Amino acid sequence: MTFETVIHGGTIVTAEGQFKGDIGIADGRIVAVSEKLDGGDTRIDAGGRLVMPGGIETHAHIAQESSSGVMTADDYLSGSISAAFGGNSSFIPFAAQQRGQSVDDVIKTYDARGERSVIDYSYHLIISDPTEKVLTEELPRAFARGITSFKVFMTYDLMNLGDGGMLDILSVAREHGAITMVHAENNDMVKWMNKLLAARGLSDPKYHAISRPELAEEEAINRAVQLAKLVDAPLFVVHVSTEGGAEIIRREQWNGAKLYAETCPQYLALTRNDLDRPGTEGAKYICSPPLRDEATQEVLWKHIRMGTFVGVHSDHAPYRYDETGKFVNGADVPYSKIANGMPGIAARLPYLFSEGVVKGRITPEQFVALSSSNTAKVFGCTTKGRIAPGMDADIAIWDPEERRTVRAVDQHDNMDYSPFEGMELTGVPKLVMNRGRVIVENDELMATEGQGQFFGRAPVDLRGTPDYVAKEFDPAQNFGTVLR
Ligand code: URP
Ligand code: ZN
Ligand code: ZN
Repeated sequence: MTFETVIHGGTIVTAEGQFKGDIGIADGRIVAVSEKLDGGDTRIDAGGRLVMPGGIETHAHIAQESSSGVMTADDYLSGSISAAFGGNSSFIPFAAQQRGQSVDDVIKTYDARGERSVIDYSYHLIISDPTEKVLTEELPRAFARGITSFKVFMTYDLMNLGDGGMLDILSVAREHGAITMVHAENNDMVKWMNKLLAARGLSDPKYHAISRPELAEEEAINRAVQLAKLVDAPLFVVHVSTEGGAEIIRREQWNGAKLYAETCPQYLALTRNDLDRPGTEGAKYICSPPLRDEATQEVLWKHIRMGTFVGVHSDHAPYRYDETGKFVNGADVPYSKIANGMPGIAARLPYLFSEGVVKGRITPEQFVALSSSNTAKVFGCTTKGRIAPGMDADIAIWDPEERRTVRAVDQHDNMDYSPFEGMELTGVPKLVMNRGRVIVENDELMATEGQGQFFGRAPVDLRGTPDYVAKEFDPAQNFGTVLR
């Protein structure tokens, strides 16, 4: 067998185990994994290093307008470069439908934006306007193209679909084998809290945390899960930030719901006290759901360890600390007018490795599962997320001992701050590959604009999750009525 590249002498880590071995690569794919491989036009020495699947980032807002029209600071070029420096070989940002916009138009728009990417990419479709045409014509067309996941919101007035709209989406998703992602916060609870705080003149950034109660997340997660169960549709709860929310998810998973979830580094690393920094600096830490408290951090780690969360993703939502981002509505506005979101696509995996693996909270195998393998399975990335013959050569080689201090200037994004600034982390992705091409090596970008490719995805793999039939859908219990 001839190889273009051989990675040799490293410790290969998969979600199942680790072993010393070599990887042979040809035509962008892994073609051999063996104890020892000779040959190769290029030989990469991975001695003393961990060789893992490149990360797959599945929660990133890239070249995306918020519902109120504010564009993220990162486009597919800067966003993908930042992702690559953070150990990712591919990502699945969102393609967002604005109300009144056709899904065909959304996909066309993001296809043009995606062309700049240096890593492979796909999209989750955000649906804010599920018209009859969207449900019956456009979503099926998107599925046929391999866009097999989309996201709905239970909050933000311009995005919130209401329970009926969610049921429409969930049942179409079930029919086509797609998975629905949900941002779960009770919109009315948040609006009511906003009114209460405004009436008392409480408008500093720190009140953002008070305005979006833990109960708002817990209530909405529970409701989303029951809606999904009614139509037996798979559901993925994004950015879970509360103990109560994680426990609802755990319980429903035990009861057999087709239910997946993630949390994000900011809920593990930061607290609501960060919103109370001097002046307007707290604005940097405004994201939704909001940062919580220290006690919640260890609970979330427990759920990472137990498998409640299949992934830890960044929710990279880059709004600069200036008038183009956080302060697009003015420098001296109440918290409710400050753009929501923070960057983190480059810091996600170094943070998870350092605080997870190095501190003994998770194993290296769990790190691989959480950063790529689980994600690939849930979101139908059939050629990514594993080191095995036939898979794309999407590989990250890590030095598990090198120490770094996080600095905004090293994130390679278009941002002017990092919420993780100053954190001391151990473990650095030294070489990152996408389909056999080195894209980052020793802190240098080796990729060129546009070399990433769009990838379509398979339907969600629901083997091992038996059908759930609500009584009302069971002809034996609903007077013999066939409803699906
Ligand atoms: O505050 C956040 N997370 N902004 C990005 C949009 C979203 O809700 O994920
Ligand atoms: Zn969200
Ligand atoms: Zn998000």
